Amino acid sequence: MAEARVWYPYTQMRGLEPPLEIVRGEGAWLEASDGRRYLDAISSWWVTLHGHAHPRIAAAIGRQAAQLEQVILAGCTHPAAERLAARLLAIAPAGLEHVFYSDDGSTAVEVALKMALQSWQQRGEGQRRTIVALEHAYHGDTLGAMAVSAPSAFTAAFADLLFAAARVPTAYCHRCPVGKLRASCAIDCLAPLERLLEREGERVAAVIVEPLLQGAGGMIVQPPEFLAGIRRLCDRHGVLLIADEVLTGFGRTGTMFACEQAGIAPDILCLSKGLTGGFLPLAATLCSQAVYSAFLAEDRRKTLFHGHSFTGNPLGCAAALASLDVFATEPVMERIAAIAATHTRRLERLRAHARVADARQAGTVAALELAEREPGYLAAIGPRLRHHCLRQGVLLRPLGHVVYVLPPYCIQPDELERVWDAIESGLESAA
Ligand SMILES: Cc1ncc(COP(=O)(O)O)c(C=O)c1O
Repeated sequence: MAEARVWYPYTQMRGLEPPLEIVRGEGAWLEASDGRRYLDAISSWWVTLHGHAHPRIAAAIGRQAAQLEQVILAGCTHPAAERLAARLLAIAPAGLEHVFYSDDGSTAVEVALKMALQSWQQRGEGQRRTIVALEHAYHGDTLGAMAVSAPSAFTAAFADLLFAAARVPTAYCHRCPVGKLRASCAIDCLAPLERLLEREGERVAAVIVEPLLQGAGGMIVQPPEFLAGIRRLCDRHGVLLIADEVLTGFGRTGTMFACEQAGIAPDILCLSKGLTGGFLPLAATLCSQAVYSAFLAEDRRKTLFHGHSFTGNPLGCAAALASLDVFATEPVMERIAAIAATHTRRLERLRAHARVADARQAGTVAALELAEREPGYLAAIGPRLRHHCLRQGVLLRPLGHVVYVLPPYCIQPDELERVWDAIESGLESAA
């Protein structure tokens, strides 16, 4: 390939193999310029909810574009931003009362961190400067989001520049020496956080988690009791809980939000990816009244000085409203349940496979951790499986030795079986 003009994300440009040129999308399918079609089994980086080019969302964006495509959200507002905030608050876990818009998952997390830290400062508890994060966490690629993500190949080049987060182990049941997915063993996993908060709880501003499912860290599925326990410990020590549902929001784990399965509500909730049905970049950071109130002051220096050019963009808001309409008018939760049932059945079949070290699932997300001599994000099996599946007309993007399926909710039963057939044959031939 001639020297590329586009510098692709997460891509070593030396020896770049030509990317698929995708010219069209429909439902769960992507069509390349050479006419070949691929099942999008990863929802185009975990964003596409109801399918590519869903007519209702496309039409809503068109109508909004013809009326108002963009307006500054400071000193001005617009109906779509106001309506979307009301609808998000109506479906979000109880106790979240305000919506701050930004552009993507990383910026939703940046906003959450700044909200938490500045709110304590303005509540007279400025000593609360520590953010606690989990091992294997991934919260995005901006500097603040990297600081609370686990150290990895993604963050290594900047390690000396990132603020120091306190890190506690996660509930990684597959690697647990005690047992697997028992409610009581989730409590054992909480012990390090409990000790940390007992030692220095009054210096902690917030704990940040990916509820139930740590995504980029390896599709690690956690028992809801672990999340419920984190909420209990935060309450005991007066610490804020930030739930990063950038991946898990909007049905991915089987309920609208993953927090619901643990029966908890966070103080701050980060949403993006599926927010617009996957059509446009938009994010929302929701917060409690207590967090919001800390910014109310006569002193204008106590403002949350954060905003992006496209904050609350009308097109994104229109797409998000249309996506919520799809939830209301199509059997989306039934589709989610059907995907989950197929995943469960296919995982069961593969659980005993010699190459499979662990099979796990959270709703519409299913993952196989493969037994590899050299595991990790850069494991060679990932690209080999990807190529094998592409030849079968299935687009996957394994996280190294963890291969996962995370399809749009519109995927048809036979299409999902085809995805699993491709993986299964890949386990035989891409060794
Ligand atoms: C849990 C979580 N948080 C944050 C992000 C960052 O989102 P974005 O890539 O939109 O910046 C991701 C992206 O994968 C994510 O999975």
